[in-house]
Amino acid sequence: MADNPPIIYLNNAATTWPKPPEVLEAVRQSLALPVFGSGRTTGSQGEDYITLAREALSGLLAADPPEHVVFTQNATDSLNLLIQGFFAGKEAGCHVLTTELDHNSVLRPLYELERQRRIRLTVLPFENGSVRPDSIEAAITPDTRLMVTTQGSNVLGSVQDIPRIGEIVHDHGISFIVDGAQAAGHIPVNLRNLPVDAYVFTGHKGLFGIPGTGGFYLRDPESIAPVRYGGTGTDSFSLSHPREMPERFESGTHNYPGLAALAAGVNYIASTGVEAVAEKAERQTAFLIGELKREQNITIYNESPSLPIVSFNIRGMENDDVGFILARAYGIVARTGLHCAPLVHRAIDGGKGCVRLSLSWFTTDEECRLTAKAVKEIARNANSSFGSP
Ligand SMILES: Cc1ncc(COP(=O)(O)O)c(C=O)c1O
Repeated sequence: MADNPPIIYLNNAATTWPKPPEVLEAVRQSLALPVFGSGRTTGSQGEDYITLAREALSGLLAADPPEHVVFTQNATDSLNLLIQGFFAGKEAGCHVLTTELDHNSVLRPLYELERQRRIRLTVLPFENGSVRPDSIEAAITPDTRLMVTTQGSNVLGSVQDIPRIGEIVHDHGISFIVDGAQAAGHIPVNLRNLPVDAYVFTGHKGLFGIPGTGGFYLRDPESIAPVRYGGTGTDSFSLSHPREMPERFESGTHNYPGLAALAAGVNYIASTGVEAVAEKAERQTAFLIGELKREQNITIYNESPSLPIVSFNIRGMENDDVGFILARAYGIVARTGLHCAPLVHRAIDGGKGCVRLSLSWFTTDEECRLTAKAVKEIARNANSSFGSP
């Protein structure tokens, strides 16, 4: 295995790195023997990684029954399948709610349906990192059928009150799809109690799987029509796609090395404990924010995030330049720009974008200390080059 490069990796909200050693080993093992399972082989070697991953996810998220956990390519793929499947066969023209807090993986599928005049879309503003319950109530019309929103913001690190939002929309008979891409693995999620109809996750962020994996939990399979058909290894004489879960939404050969990795990642998180992950993240994030607040020319966009995300700008500097200096002069990998959430940026920084530091369970206190020192140094130098703000 290659030695780790001498970097401080703080771009975990994009994809987590490093992965636990168990995840790397699971990928290796999954490819060392021929795949087993799904009616596609007479072999009995190896593990049924697909079932292992389904059961691991079902356990971590309290998503019952495990067959209602569906695997896809990523969170974006899941949102497309759910949104398109929700409207398949429905009359055009109904009303849908989403928020300015959402990622393009929610916004773009919805804007496309609006462009095709299949839906009317209302995009709700947010305040303090969350959409206000009274603004949801006020936006509901008799033909509102669906709300899609994120649980955790990938820019602000805020977590929305999903129980309250779910209660409001369900009181009006509206279906509720939640994008849990930034939340799963970072904060406890219990789908037994959460009033959501579908919950989307991605494999390669807080769950420590590898890119190209993700999925969703769907409470009522009949509420979403499949929009993809093909071989499932089951009921193969029938030319109609199976209606049973999870085959209803899964066809073609699975990404089983990816699912082996996902099972290992989820088991790693489960044995570490999501509460322990959240506690460490809260402490380190609070430290970083406390340090950055000491410099007057640093604007922090959420001073009390619930996820390990710190987004900021240094007055007098472009966010790309800050990112460049962090990477080149200090070996710190952050992310700059718009983070695929254009409406958040329109609201917080006029659409210019910002620098985002995002932590994981593997981020050390020393890395946080060095990062705080580096950002403060850059801010002080900005002050001396551009004058006080
Ligand atoms: C809130 C949110 N939703 C969706 C996504 C898309 O995730 P994926 O890369 O799994 O499609 C991301 C990741 O960038 C995200 O932050």
